[in-house]
Amino acid sequence: MKKALVCGAGGFIGGHLVNRLKSEGYWVRGVDVKENEYENRNADEFILGDLRDPAVADEVITSDLDEIYQLAADMGGAGFVFTGTNDAAIMHNSVLCNLNVLEAAKNKGVKRIFYSSSACMYPEHNQMDPNNPKCSEESAYPANPDSEYGWEKLFSERLFLAYQKNHGIEARIARFHNIFGPQGTWDGGREKAPAAVCRKVAMAEDGGSIEIWGDGKQTRSFLIVDECVEGIRRLMLSDFSGPVNIGSEEMISLNDFAKMVIDISGKSLSINNIPGPLGVRGRNSDNHLIQEKLGWAPSTPLRKGVEKTYDWISEQIQKKVLEPVEA
Ligand code: NAD
Ligand code: GDD
Repeated sequence: MKKALVCGAGGFIGGHLVNRLKSEGYWVRGVDVKENEYENRNADEFILGDLRDPAVADEVITSDLDEIYQLAADMGGAGFVFTGTNDAAIMHNSVLCNLNVLEAAKNKGVKRIFYSSSACMYPEHNQMDPNNPKCSEESAYPANPDSEYGWEKLFSERLFLAYQKNHGIEARIARFHNIFGPQGTWDGGREKAPAAVCRKVAMAEDGGSIEIWGDGKQTRSFLIVDECVEGIRRLMLSDFSGPVNIGSEEMISLNDFAKMVIDISGKSLSINNIPGPLGVRGRNSDNHLIQEKLGWAPSTPLRKGVEKTYDWISEQIQKKVLEPVEA
């Protein structure tokens, strides 16, 4: 039986990945600073621990592991990563997790490690035209990410590749493009646009309005988490290190995305564009490389993933409303 460690198992993608590995017959250890709020703890072993502490990395990374999936990071949507107020914490916390995990993996002789990078590492100057952003893998350099979160991801990609080169750990690196779906953060300030818009629509009175940050003409592509996990597994099983995009090529403007969610809800709502943290003007996954190297690329239509997510977020809102208020 293969043994895997999922770092960040208390989080959104990590939680889904634990389930996927279990369904494939793996023995799975999870580690995170927090429990997974939505999962039924499907990992064989779940350790609450802070990977900024090298002793924790040393404890959870044992020499019997076949694979490590490093998804632990200080992360959030535009309201968290593009305001500038969390920059030092994001860089400090995420880079420490990566350093500690890699060093322990080297010391314990673990042979294969996955790293979750982000589309946020692509240069800002290639993402100014909302209708024609460039995010092909080779366009990463000369580097010019628009956020410190993106710079940290770019540095850490290089860190994983350096450990591969100097210490023989097989690195597999993916650049995720805005992953969404059930069990993703949907409130509290770290939520990304897909969850935020679903929440706003679900909470709005029929006939009312919802607020969308910016002029709504900025573009993104959003990928349902099941496809992301499929991509992670295919990359891990391949002989290609990456970095490679894992994202959707179905680009959409934010206002059109909001219209899609409103349509799914069956409500009649207007859109109010307001100032907010924006990030790049346009972004879309380029899937040529993943198709070439893995013979596969995500194909689930955006609307299908949004329908599932809208239903799930509506249920969460209902549960919160019904929760008894603590005295
Ligand atoms: P998430 O916030 O749900 O999961 C990250 C998990 O890491 C959290 O549960 C958090 O508690 C944990 N963590 C943070 N600091 C830790 C520490 N010091 N020790 C132990 N655990 C710690 O986010 P996610 O969406 O599941 O993202 C997973 C990974 O994918 C992250 O590295 C993120 O940067 C990357 N990524 C995600 C997206 C996306 O759209 N979701 C896009 C690009 C990259
Ligand atoms: N979060 C959020 N909430 N974004 C909104 C909202 C809202 O209510 N309304 C409009 N937006 C706009 C943002 O201003 C931004 O222009 C766009 O929707 C997308 O925002 P996010 O989904 O929050 O972030 P992102 O796509 O810019 O970046 C995310 O994806 C990256 C990977 O592609 C972040 O989560 C990054 O951390 C991640 O690496």
